[in-house]
Amino acid sequence: MSNALQRDLARLVSRIEREDGARAAADPYRQRFHLMPPVGWLNDPNGLCRCGEWYHVFYQYGPFDPTGGVKHWGHYRSRDLLHWEQLPPMLYPDQPWDIHGVYSGSALVEDGTMYLYYTGNVKHAGDYDYITAGRGHNTALAVSRDGVTAASNELLLENRDYPADLTCHVRDPKVWAQDGRYYMVLGARTKDDRGELLVYESEDKRHWTHSNTLTTPEKFGYMWECPDLFELDGQWFLVCSPQGVTRQGNQYQNVYSCGYFPLYGDFRGDYTLGEFHELDCGFDFYAPQSFADGSRRLQFGWMGMPDAAYTNPTVEQGWQHCLTVPCELKRDGDRILRVPAREVSALRGEHMTPEWAQVFDMECRTEGAGRLVIRGAAVVEWDGQQLSLTLAQGGEGRTVRYADVDAVKNLRVLADASSLEIFVNGGAQVMTTRYYPDPASCGVQMEGAQAEIWAMGALQIQ
Ligand code: FRU
Repeated sequence: MSNALQRDLARLVSRIEREDGARAAADPYRQRFHLMPPVGWLNDPNGLCRCGEWYHVFYQYGPFDPTGGVKHWGHYRSRDLLHWEQLPPMLYPDQPWDIHGVYSGSALVEDGTMYLYYTGNVKHAGDYDYITAGRGHNTALAVSRDGVTAASNELLLENRDYPADLTCHVRDPKVWAQDGRYYMVLGARTKDDRGELLVYESEDKRHWTHSNTLTTPEKFGYMWECPDLFELDGQWFLVCSPQGVTRQGNQYQNVYSCGYFPLYGDFRGDYTLGEFHELDCGFDFYAPQSFADGSRRLQFGWMGMPDAAYTNPTVEQGWQHCLTVPCELKRDGDRILRVPAREVSALRGEHMTPEWAQVFDMECRTEGAGRLVIRGAAVVEWDGQQLSLTLAQGGEGRTVRYADVDAVKNLRVLADASSLEIFVNGGAQVMTTRYYPDPASCGVQMEGAQAEIWAMGALQIQ
């Protein structure tokens, strides 16, 4: 199902990708093993799923503006998470309910059909604050049978259908099937500025009833973006990206946060949310989404941070941001461990000596205190109380981030052309950041660590 606006947008997107793609591709800060937008802007991963033999990764895509612009759902698919095919956007802002952006959402797969639930963003012209008035956040459903184009698109819920105590900010549906029914969670901001999640139920994927609200007894931020709710090895977890949580010690160092609550009881009835833990303590990790892939749960995050003061020089080359590597989530009691999916290791090439390391995967065994200096730009230090990441050069405004870790036993560092993902103690803590070292720089100096380093190959993207 297409319309005249979609056909024009499709032509414009492919034209700008053709015209500006080469400039972006020539940027030395272009990543080798992370998914990026071909041109323009990327934020949240969306609609992650496995449908038949294909993994699908959609993402918030602003093809016309490397600093944002109107959002489409960009699209990559792969059979093995290593060879990717770039497809035209699946969703365009071409309906009255999504005209100012096809915002984030998720995929439900049933009998080879993808049901793509998303938020349609509408900003009315006028003198509005766009929080309590002037904005439509509509829940919509697009259906794709071929995995490449949407056959239908329909509006399911609009602001007047949501509970009356909410602002206009109600978004990012995550939908799944369970016990013969369908469930959806939506992130919301109340009129008294509290973040919460709405739980909806449906029997037919189209008609939805609000059946519960999940929140904390004490206010925890003013808005919970991009919810995800799943069971991992017998424990439920509620992942979200709360806005408005203030820094406490080494927690919540970024403008917005991202983490999870263990959920006890039943999300459909009586429940309690346990202590919130951040999923990442670096500069650039937000709005992750997960999906079940057989018996494992994979998660991609956005390697970025909305409204952060720091910048990315790639904007001058016509593109900005990327996704994290896919990670597998594992349960450790009430905690989530996050480790690179096994496919990431398949990109390892030759072993290399530390002096030449530039784009690499490194595993370190450590004891007591120690330090790594990566490409002369990033300094990772640990001392038995905390681990810090300092961007001495190339941080573009990023300075230092800390993680509370009493004993660092092992570290895994994935270093791409302009990013670091540092997994501490088997993924108990992770620090993810973009950085922009001198493109000619290389080498890792280390103290207090014994390392094995592999050169990393590139994703194949066609
Ligand atoms: C999170 C977010 C979502 C929204 C999307 C818009 O980064 O603000 O809440 O759906 O980005 O691009």
